[in-house]
Amino acid sequence: MNFSKEILFSELMELKNNAYVPYSNFRVASIVYLKNGEKVVGVNVENAAYNPTICAERCVLPQVYAQGYDANDVELMTLYTDSDNVGTPCGTCRQTMTELLQPEQIVMIFNKKGYCKSVTVSELLPDSFTEKDL
Ligand code: THU
Repeated sequence: MNFSKEILFSELMELKNNAYVPYSNFRVASIVYLKNGEKVVGVNVENAAYNPTICAERCVLPQVYAQGYDANDVELMTLYTDSDNVGTPCGTCRQTMTELLQPEQIVMIFNKKGYCKSVTVSELLPDSFTEKDL
């Protein structure tokens, strides 16, 4: 599939408006594009108790599975963070991405200026703990 960076960024910019961020006001959005042409979306959803806050990555990936798909169905994951730098997934999200995506899966991470960096899941969490370690 051929993805234009401009379209990927504009979809994330629209989606970030759905983030529920009354405490941090820091919006994060993620879209998983499936090989069948469908897409699954996620945003960060905060909580007054802070701890139950869901990051955008852990909002979108379980939905991929809930809809009956898995890592092999994923073409591309995009991520937007409301940051001047290129934001980067937190440690918990990296572990979730390792569990639910292929190690070589490309993740395109955009900042608020539209600058984008591509990384693989295994680059985000090298030497990760997986089912092989159980
Ligand atoms: N956040 C994410 O959604 N993904 C990450 O990988 C890092 C942090 C959210 C959680 C919280 O709502 C806000 O960003 C500030 O930490």
